[in-house]
Amino acid sequence: MIDKIRNFAIIAHIDHGKSTLADRFLELTNTVPKEKLVDQYLDRLSLEREKGITIKMQPVRMEYKGYILNLIDTPGHCDFYYEVSRALFCVEGAILLVDGTQGIQAQTISHLKIAKDLGLKIIPAINKIDLNIPDLDSLIYDIERLTGEKDIHLISAKFGTGVKELLDDIIEKIPEPKVYNDSFKALIFDSHFDKYKGIIAHIRIFSGKLKKDEALYLKSNGYKFKNLEVGIFTPDLKEKELLEQGEIGYIATGIKEPEIIKIGDTILKDLNEEEIPGYKEPTPVVFASVYPSENISYEKFDSNIKKLKLNDPSISLENCYSPVFGRGYLVGFLGLLHLEIFKERLKREFETEIILTLPSVKYEVLLKNGKIIYIQNPQELPDPSKIEEIREPIAKVFIYSPLAYIEKISNLIKNKRGIIKEQKILSSFVELEGEMPLDELISGFYDELKSISSGYASLNWEFLGYRKENLVKLDILVAEEEFPALSRIVHKDFAESIGRKIIKELKNLLPREQFPVKLQAAIGKKIIARETIPALKADVAGWLYGGDITRKIKLWQKQKRGKKKLEKLGKGKVKIPNDVLIKILRLR
Ligand code: GTP
Repeated sequence: MIDKIRNFAIIAHIDHGKSTLADRFLELTNTVPKEKLVDQYLDRLSLEREKGITIKMQPVRMEYKGYILNLIDTPGHCDFYYEVSRALFCVEGAILLVDGTQGIQAQTISHLKIAKDLGLKIIPAINKIDLNIPDLDSLIYDIERLTGEKDIHLISAKFGTGVKELLDDIIEKIPEPKVYNDSFKALIFDSHFDKYKGIIAHIRIFSGKLKKDEALYLKSNGYKFKNLEVGIFTPDLKEKELLEQGEIGYIATGIKEPEIIKIGDTILKDLNEEEIPGYKEPTPVVFASVYPSENISYEKFDSNIKKLKLNDPSISLENCYSPVFGRGYLVGFLGLLHLEIFKERLKREFETEIILTLPSVKYEVLLKNGKIIYIQNPQELPDPSKIEEIREPIAKVFIYSPLAYIEKISNLIKNKRGIIKEQKILSSFVELEGEMPLDELISGFYDELKSISSGYASLNWEFLGYRKENLVKLDILVAEEEFPALSRIVHKDFAESIGRKIIKELKNLLPREQFPVKLQAAIGKKIIARETIPALKADVAGWLYGGDITRKIKLWQKQKRGKKKLEKLGKGKVKIPNDVLIKILRLR
């Protein structure tokens, strides 16, 4: 039976046509009846359909010419590389799909690297050949060089051209799953929550067999449970008698507590057996504090976030507290799109509205006593006398672009405190490798890159490590009182301009008081920018018509003295409304 199984994935840059190709496969293999097949069938989340992108990998089992073909559709955006690496761990081969009109782009290369490292068989295909492809020969040449494969399929996923030949090649070229030994071992590569059956673990069986009602263990924590059901993805869940080695399917665990199941864990029948090795944990690098909105209890917020984590294991959660918003979580993400998707999924799938602070990074602080601490919140910074140095996270960036935009892109990287390390020219594009502070990368870099390259440049990045920089804590004082929630860590060279921007914006947004309100930006005791919001005007002499100017002047002077008094009395009495706070926190 195992010689009739082929497990494969489709890897590609965003929008190169993976889901459309998967649709053709579903159609050709009669897995989904034609009348039921809506476009991008495997994009199951409503959010995926709306945005036209794949966020979750979706496994599906097809039967064709006596073979079982397990396809895992994978996301293309770099924030979801973790989903891709998990999918690729469970398959023996991958179709490398390149949109002929766009050429090779950032995720084409990064996914290819993961697939090659895992030793997968690569089948390259150029898609959208129904459209005009500017320089097909150069593209074929570049793909050959990158993959080492000579046979490159030319297909149109939209119209089905060449799709049958591609499917036949999968059967022929992708090896059958390896046989290990008899003892049962399965890798959890994903999971979701079911109200009745508890956590549904998506698994790849590496060895042995499984029926329902068997006693199983989780290797990482020794947790014992009985599985309620086993089955396959059609892509809906379909119960089966038996799952065997090499297969991809699911088990209903009955477990209701999300913390127990860890993606990447091994399921065993004998706890003494070894785990399946080589599975990497994700490293979140972008952080934001998340709090429940007014209309939801903390308990509900807490339980829903944990449920979402089951289906999105790449987020990290740490408890946090804000004097303004109360109890919450500091959530770690793989990137900004990941953060946005997290927020939307909480809202749509769990009806949970949240308050989200500005995305930021974690800093590494070397103390004078040699200890290293990590802080995300400027308020956690120890007294400057105790700090030896502050280090910030650096990203290694890979940018792929047509030659025409390289100069503008190089300038943009330099403006963001970045450096260019290497530039490789292939026939159809240029690969630029550089390094830049992650904080700059998540502050609108991607949008600027897209805009200066008319949308042609693409970006991929990975976390490189921490580096010492001239960083300082910028404080904001309102009515001479420090507002810790508004402090931030910035590069010294930019502190003044950022400080100015913040207090200018505060001046625009804060409502006027009876007294003038001083706004200041400071580094330590040094004020680096200041503004004043004038007091509400009440014309005390307005009722005096005509002549008596001396009486008017007297009244105005009295008012002035009164205001000075009020200013003193008003010290620290200014409340910043939440909506203003959020706007300022979002300011870059
Ligand atoms: P992500 O899920 O976001 O990574 O995208 P994807 O790779 O799954 O791409 P998808 O299948 O959603 O296709 C992107 C767009 O390209 C859609 O508008 C498709 O209709 C279109 N498309 C896909 N294949 C072809 C093709 O062969 N020819 C033409 N003309 N358009 C295609």
